[in-house]
Amino acid sequence: ASTLGAAAQQSGRYYGAAITVGKMNDATYMGIVDREFDSIVAENEMKMDATEPNQNQFNFTNGDRIVNYALGKGKKVRGHTLAWHGQQPGWMQNMSGQALRNAMLNHVTRVATHYRGKIHSWDVVNEAFADDGRGSRRDSNLQRTGNDWIEAAFRAARAADPAAKLCYNDYNTDGVNAKSTAVYNMVRDFRSRGVPIDCVGFQSHLGTTVPGDYQANLRRFSDLGVDVQITELDIQQGSNQATAYRQVTQACLAVPRCTGITVWGVRDNDSWRTGTNPLLFDSAGNKKAAYTAVLDAL
Ligand code: XIL
Repeated sequence: ASTLGAAAQQSGRYYGAAITVGKMNDATYMGIVDREFDSIVAENEMKMDATEPNQNQFNFTNGDRIVNYALGKGKKVRGHTLAWHGQQPGWMQNMSGQALRNAMLNHVTRVATHYRGKIHSWDVVNEAFADDGRGSRRDSNLQRTGNDWIEAAFRAARAADPAAKLCYNDYNTDGVNAKSTAVYNMVRDFRSRGVPIDCVGFQSHLGTTVPGDYQANLRRFSDLGVDVQITELDIQQGSNQATAYRQVTQACLAVPRCTGITVWGVRDNDSWRTGTNPLLFDSAGNKKAAYTAVLDAL
């Protein structure tokens, strides 16, 4: 195969990218997106602040542009994200208690219902764990509504869109460490109690190297009976970016329940990690060595 999406499909996987509405009139950008990727996620347009700027007033204009573009081209869509401490609308940031719990659940229900049947996998909850080395939950207004806020969000998402795969998504969970083990324990608990969770997303915003236990970590989650997905991949350019991208690709292919990979942007100058050149295409839109390493490994 000669494109990332077609190559991934050879093993029943997808290869996706995050895109943004503001660049959909950039012909170079959209040429690459059209050609290479068979799955799309909105970089910002389906987050809480974008979709519910005022309480109970939903705005799906930009999210719909991305979803309709992708579906019109026969691409899958990942949904990102229904409940998160980040990029909350102003009205939600200072809410607490039962009012916030209800507002969060209403948001999950309304957004998942709007996109019902169109989303392959939803990041239902994003980044709920801390980086404290002890595997604690992150302190946030959502966490302060009660430790069960995550399962409540998953149940609401399942009710609203029963066909979508429901994922928990986080960063710094890419290797075996206290944070990923805490997520692992939550997923195991959810599975044992019938809380509806189908997948775990590993953002994989990586430095110049890949954790040595990256594949083993994907494997231990998949052994819990959930799919795993690499959801926001970008790798800082260093001495061997191509090797690092190859290692991530090979790790996913070695784990049968690793169903797909998404890179967090298209060209280096589209990346949120300014100056690190972490993506597969250079700023002129040319394929980098990392691109070739991925294509060859798929
Ligand atoms: C980032 C976007 O790429 C930026 O444009 C935005 O300013 C901040 O958010 N983890 C996530 C993504 O789950 O939503 C974040 O995206 C990157 C880190």
